[in-house]
Amino acid sequence: MRVPAKLNLQLAVGPPRADGYHDLVTVFHAVSLFDEITARPAERDRVSVSGEGADRVPEDGDNLALRAVAALRAAVASGTQADDGSVHITIAKRIPVAAGLAGGSADAAAALVACNELWGTGLGQPQLLEIAAQVGSDVAFAVLGGTAVGRGRGERLTPALAPATPYHWVLAFADGQLSTPAVYAALDRLRAAEAGGAAAEHAAAAKGGSAAEHGTAEPGLDAALMSALRSGDARQLGRALSNDLQPAALSLFPALRKTLAAGLELGALGALVSGSGPTCLFLAASADRALDLAASLSGAGVCRSVARATGPVPGAAVVQAAR
Ligand code: C5P
Repeated sequence: MRVPAKLNLQLAVGPPRADGYHDLVTVFHAVSLFDEITARPAERDRVSVSGEGADRVPEDGDNLALRAVAALRAAVASGTQADDGSVHITIAKRIPVAAGLAGGSADAAAALVACNELWGTGLGQPQLLEIAAQVGSDVAFAVLGGTAVGRGRGERLTPALAPATPYHWVLAFADGQLSTPAVYAALDRLRAAEAGGAAAEHAAAAKGGSAAEHGTAEPGLDAALMSALRSGDARQLGRALSNDLQPAALSLFPALRKTLAAGLELGALGALVSGSGPTCLFLAASADRALDLAASLSGAGVCRSVARATGPVPGAAVVQAAR
């Protein structure tokens, strides 16, 4: 199996919900940076991880890929003829860990699709998407791929009806990691502080609900971004990229400001922290420009390493059936 990393071209975050999650409106975009996953029958469920950041991926029951295997098994447990025996999942990582690229979710999506094949479970995509959503907020998108609008926690997906224009991205990997819950928590703190400041200035401020207290309204889809995607206009897309988590990621990882500024100075059409970071993404006008930008960025000493990727690409896909 091979499964892509995701970028968020828009990430609009609402106030925290009672369950600790945040309602989102996001535009997911799958790019050509892939993890490779295999699933083979085994005595007991286990996972082995190699490659980029492998030492930071748990190999026990906390591993998202194993949780996906368990979720599929539970979903098919009732009365199918499928052979849902134990599996050994191997993951060769190229998507950096805790980088804002949903690498762990990608591996979970691949494990789900792989076991559906291996066991002959025969679930269709709608059922797989439902199980994926139970495993993590970004797992369903890694099954789907392409470009899609995500709502709810990010798991309710609508494919974006856009021409298959290829976009050329440069990814700057940071020297460090950010924890997704920590970045959401930092955003809540920043918003609470802003709302507190505003309230102090306007002592007579009207009483509001939790959205108003956090200085934020329900998130909405960015019309300019969707119009850029429909017309395949990279310049317009570059201008429309947005991420509500970016100020929070920058507050926890201030060096990223320099990375973003360097990419824009070097001619990127747009620059953004990817998801909860710390990877930064840059849009280039062409494959050649992306090559130049990648070379200049890696020379500028503002990140650990650089990769080029194109998008959109399909979601988790079988590249070779087991022998
Ligand atoms: O769903 P997943 O396990 O990937 O989410 C990781 C963490 O990110 C959650 O525990 C939560 O703190 C945060 N999160 C959130 N709102 C979302 C998605 C994730 O607050 N929509």
